[in-house]
Amino acid sequence: MTSRCVWYSLALISILLLLRTKNVDGIQLWGMQIGRAPLLEKFTWKTLDFAYPNQRSRELAVASGEYVPENSLPVGIEIWGNKLFVTVPRWRDGIPSTLNYIPLDVNHGGSPKLIPYPNWSQNRAGVCGSGLTTVYRIHADACDRLWVLDTGTIGIGETTVQACPYTLNVFDLRTDQIIRQYRLRSEDINQNTFIANIAVDLGRDSCDDAFAYMSDELGYGLIVYSWQQNTSWRITHSYFMPDPLAGDYNIGGLNFQWGEEGIFGMSLSPIQVDGYRTLFFHPLSSYREFAVSTRILRDQQLSQNSYHEFQVLPSRGPLSHCTASVMDENGLQFFNLIDQNAVGCWNSMLPYAPINQAIIARHDEAMIFPADIKVKRGLLWIISDRMPIFLLSTLNYTDVNFRILTTPVQAAIAGTVCDNMPLRFIGNQIW
Ligand SMILES: *[C@@H]1O[C@H](CO)[C@@H](O)[C@H](O)[C@H]1NC(C)=O
Ligand SMILES: *[C@@H]1O[C@H](CO)[C@@H](O)[C@H](O)[C@H]1NC(C)=O
Ligand SMILES: *[C@@H]1O[C@H](CO)[C@@H](O)[C@H](O)[C@H]1NC(C)=O
Repeated sequence: MTSRCVWYSLALISILLLLRTKNVDGIQLWGMQIGRAPLLEKFTWKTLDFAYPNQRSRELAVASGEYVPENSLPVGIEIWGNKLFVTVPRWRDGIPSTLNYIPLDVNHGGSPKLIPYPNWSQNRAGVCGSGLTTVYRIHADACDRLWVLDTGTIGIGETTVQACPYTLNVFDLRTDQIIRQYRLRSEDINQNTFIANIAVDLGRDSCDDAFAYMSDELGYGLIVYSWQQNTSWRITHSYFMPDPLAGDYNIGGLNFQWGEEGIFGMSLSPIQVDGYRTLFFHPLSSYREFAVSTRILRDQQLSQNSYHEFQVLPSRGPLSHCTASVMDENGLQFFNLIDQNAVGCWNSMLPYAPINQAIIARHDEAMIFPADIKVKRGLLWIISDRMPIFLLSTLNYTDVNFRILTTPVQAAIAGTVCDNMPLRFIGNQIW
């Protein structure tokens, strides 16, 4: 048999094995509406619940309004060791904890309660410096560090109160201690700043060779933090702005306009021959992807005067608003297509063009508003949360609203244009 044949047989066997587990653990497998791999519904919630030390403290929290079950919406995920992290912004009252996790060794399905990370006291709102107020997307790096940007905000849109300054917190995941805390400088932000995403760029040499890139979605900037220099700077570029023609959305049966949402999703390529990665990024209200070398971003001087170093990639076409994206170590990019309740893929060995992109997962009930995506241990991890319905209408709390789904990467891309097994990322700029 050719290796491809072996691969398909293995994929088929694993799918059959997976199908056999259907209903065994109460785990739901969705037949994909588009895409070949099974979509495993790992965890689901109607409303989020938190792991209070006992029933009494939970009841007290509900009675005092400290915990309002209907007000929690999960937006970000990350996987490290046996922990599946889930973030919950404090957009409304009654969010007891913003950074949380689920122990994967003891939870195999169902609706587990979220455990505050690293503990309850570190998740108190408005306790600047020793409590996290609002956390969106987070990143665990290869050096066992968790990068957590606390926006310090309570509320959303008009209701936003800046309770604490924007602060980057880096945790040592092995000890659960904060090993770095850095307040963004006042020059890094502006009156419109809203940062809900972070990318982490690890160099080849050491764990000290690390940079964080934080996308300012409403203030239209990119903030760079250097771990080694313990300092930050802000980059501006017109490519960070939304496309005025791409602000109309139809999601989950709602029509709405998000005309102001600029740079949001970011993904980093593997390290290329010149020693640098490429940062791919896109405004939320846009159908385009842009790219820039980290050689530019990492150099404060260079980053201020390099307009032409930023590249424009071709449009993805209609219905391609994209929230989070991620690129794996082989240069495969995955991106959440919120208009289509779907996840797309692009193999960066091929030019960035719709013909070289495919949908690898789509489900019109289970994937309404995929809000974050990660690749870990050969699996794609997706969280869908019906965010526009939560923000603009009302969720139906007798229905499942939040899901964490997984699908095996290799089976998901099998047979698509993204499946380019013999080609490995070799670092040519060919997009
Ligand atoms: C909570 O975690 C932080 C960070 O690890 C630590 O400094 C603090 O002592 C912990 N608090 C409690 C009450 O455990
Ligand atoms: C990093 O800089 C901040 C000031 O912006 C300071 O409070 C902190 O102690 C510094 N950390 C390290 C490790 O140098
Ligand atoms: C809410 O969800 C439940 C469960 O899916 C469903 O039976 C019910 O019809 C829904 N209610 C509305 C008003 O859509």
